[in-house]
Amino acid sequence: MMGDDLEALRSETLEALAQAQDHAAWDAIRVGVLGKSGRLTRLLKELGKMSPEERKERGQALNRLRDALNSAVEQRGQEIADAALEARLKSEQVDVTLPAPATPLGLLHPISRTIEEMTAIFGAMGFSVAEGPDIESQWHNFSALNTPDHHPARTEHDTFYLPSTHEDSPARVLRTQTSGVQIRTMLTEAPPIRVIAPGRTYRADHDATHSPMFHQCEGLVIDKGITLGHLKGCLIEFLRVFFDKPNLPVRFRASYFPFTEPSMEVDIGWSRQTGEIGGGTDWLEVLGSGMVHPRVLANCGLDPAIWQGFAFGMGIERLTMLKNGIPDLRSFYESDLRWLRHYGFSALSSVSLAEGV
Ligand code: DAH
Repeated sequence: MMGDDLEALRSETLEALAQAQDHAAWDAIRVGVLGKSGRLTRLLKELGKMSPEERKERGQALNRLRDALNSAVEQRGQEIADAALEARLKSEQVDVTLPAPATPLGLLHPISRTIEEMTAIFGAMGFSVAEGPDIESQWHNFSALNTPDHHPARTEHDTFYLPSTHEDSPARVLRTQTSGVQIRTMLTEAPPIRVIAPGRTYRADHDATHSPMFHQCEGLVIDKGITLGHLKGCLIEFLRVFFDKPNLPVRFRASYFPFTEPSMEVDIGWSRQTGEIGGGTDWLEVLGSGMVHPRVLANCGLDPAIWQGFAFGMGIERLTMLKNGIPDLRSFYESDLRWLRHYGFSALSSVSLAEGV
């Protein structure tokens, strides 16, 4: 019979479609039957060779078969796509009750940690954080701090001078100390003032104990009736909390800074032999301080007869090394991950005075 081959094509195709389990198998069937040289397409092409009567009957049968197979192919294609999506959704299901994977977290550099600790301790004493630029004018870095031209400190600091931008303006410098932030604060804020200024400083000096870039934390208090007693109380408190030693011996030793009068170096008790902070009978210098020089107040437009204050400055690397037993200054800047894994702090551990810093 004439329709037998079409019946066979129909049942074979439907059977094959039912067996097909994935897109590739399904597509092979689709192309093999309905594609350019597919079985049905070839039969349709043969119509042209037939007589008009034959063609009419055969043509109708072929068209019906093509429509039926087209919709069967389409339907099966949809089923396979749905099943594939279902399988993907299942396999990609996330169990939100599982613990988080142990991805390595970044660590906080000890310098950053110390700055956070200093900010927390002084913050509890009512200080806020002030900032200034790393590229500073000589006036802010030296002159306003009562360090006139040709003062030895200008050369002692091994200053990095930057090329002058205008013929008539003095060269700017990479700040050799954070003390210039004192000036900037007094010029922009009305007293009473209580600020610390942690930040980078620069000196052309490089050996085992000096780096051309290092960090300092400045402090400034300006108010009425401020005395040496306030300075001592504030710094003793800071050092004892920072080193977590309530009885840490602290000694104030007369010294000289151009911007303070009187000036004092501050030492803490330690053991030279064991390195233990607060132990032994030796003294270790940790910071500089003093009562703000009347001339510095005047340079910032403050009347020294009304306003007094104290200031201090400390090396952040030095305090970090002492507190954390870090032996080599240079290691701070080498970006050695093994070092950071040893000395770094969890980025998630917050500094809290309640728990001790
Ligand atoms: N700027 C000083 C230095 O770099 C440190 C210092 C000493 C800062 C005494 C002060 C201070 O504010 O009062 O060595």
